[in-house]
Amino acid sequence: MSTTDPKLMDKIISLAKQRGFVFPGSEIYGGLANTWDYGPLGAQLRMNIKKLWWQDVVERRPDMVGLDGAILMNPKVWEASGHVTTFHDPLVEDVVTHKRYRADHLLEKALDTTMAGKSLEDMAKLIVDNNILSPDGNELTPPKQFNLMFSTKIGPVSDSGTDVYMRPETAQAIFVNFRNVLQSSRQRLPFGIAQIGKAFRNEITPGNFIFRTLEFEQMEIEYFVEEGEWETKFEEWQKWMQEWAVKIGIDTEKLHADDIPENDLAHYSKRTIDFDFEFPFGKDELWGLAYRTNYDLSQHQEHSGEKLVYTDPQDPKNKFIPHVIEPSMGVDRTMLAVLVSAYDEETVNDNTRVVMRLPHIIAPYQVAILPLQKKLELQDVAKKLYTILGGKYRTEYDETQSIGKRYRRQDEIGTPYCITIDFESLKDNAVTIRERDSMKQERIAIDDVVNYLEKTLQ
Ligand code: GAP
Repeated sequence: MSTTDPKLMDKIISLAKQRGFVFPGSEIYGGLANTWDYGPLGAQLRMNIKKLWWQDVVERRPDMVGLDGAILMNPKVWEASGHVTTFHDPLVEDVVTHKRYRADHLLEKALDTTMAGKSLEDMAKLIVDNNILSPDGNELTPPKQFNLMFSTKIGPVSDSGTDVYMRPETAQAIFVNFRNVLQSSRQRLPFGIAQIGKAFRNEITPGNFIFRTLEFEQMEIEYFVEEGEWETKFEEWQKWMQEWAVKIGIDTEKLHADDIPENDLAHYSKRTIDFDFEFPFGKDELWGLAYRTNYDLSQHQEHSGEKLVYTDPQDPKNKFIPHVIEPSMGVDRTMLAVLVSAYDEETVNDNTRVVMRLPHIIAPYQVAILPLQKKLELQDVAKKLYTILGGKYRTEYDETQSIGKRYRRQDEIGTPYCITIDFESLKDNAVTIRERDSMKQERIAIDDVVNYLEKTLQ
């Protein structure tokens, strides 16, 4: 099914709820708009994506180390990083309904032109000159800047506590710990620090399921380099991101690496590529790759008064603030792009078969063990096999409903292999292995199951 079919989104949202990938947040209390909870399969899928990322960027690279920074940081961090003064979006309000919108988004849609580099005054004039109204047909307030950082208070008394922000990106914990990591690890330039963690943004227009939420998770790398090598390293990371998209099953025909125009770059960046993906609701940013220069470390050095320089081991007189390449990937958007890419429908015996063609490496379950009936002798064999496979693969044991319904469920949740134990198994010590994509069934000896899976589930 095409990833740009608008109906695909509804199908994915419904399957995600029904099968336990994503539930609406706080549902029994009527929900809380734009919050989502990940169910058993969603939690596992996210975990698999994050684990694979961590293995690939930290555990399998000698030039990378990990970090797990705090969500709450000294507010001076956000002054130094520029987020207090510049991390905002232009907000307009419908004067009747009081619904809030991004002025740039409304204008871009109405005038079919970019608002990159436009000031609040420019946008106010365009709204008036072109009689731009809210989606409900009402007048709009003039645009004003709206800071996206959530703030909260530390301390037992709410009106006298210290104001702090919920981090809007994980990156700053890496910059703030640059010296600690350098001193405690054996790293020398070029090297990177990777981190996975929650970030929070008070988005004006959250929506499109888990695409734009208020609370989300990022997998970020700050890769420190000498200034002269930034272009080479930028290209290396771009290639890596493209290859990783293939590895996790993202439809790369729908993935576009677009350079952000200079007048639309974030305050810290000299070059940024957005990896845009063709989602069912339109093409939008999946991941970002930015050259942040040495902006962040310089800012933190200036604001904290602490030296954040690197000393060249070959020439100790050569001290400088390293430059940074930043591959930044949202876990939630990655999961959405993976689901959108994997979802498929086909007609089998006049019925529609829904199948999530997830790569084995990240599928929530890799194997399902299905005794044909709830009979003790079959359950015995099935449970023994579960014990053997459970320690090696993500394995589900399911003995409910008819075998047809169980296959259907496993197809929908993307399980690559189903193993059925039937009455013949008691005689011939063999089982049926069914492959998800081809639906091909093979009879193999129970003793060969591990070998078989070892060859196919890498
Ligand atoms: N440190 C750089 C940074 O935060 P960003 O482009 O603002 O850059 C990086 O965010 C990634 O985080 C995005 O490419 C996207 O995958 C994810 N992301 C950003 N805002 C999000 C939101 N409101 N909901 C879900 N994911 C989001």
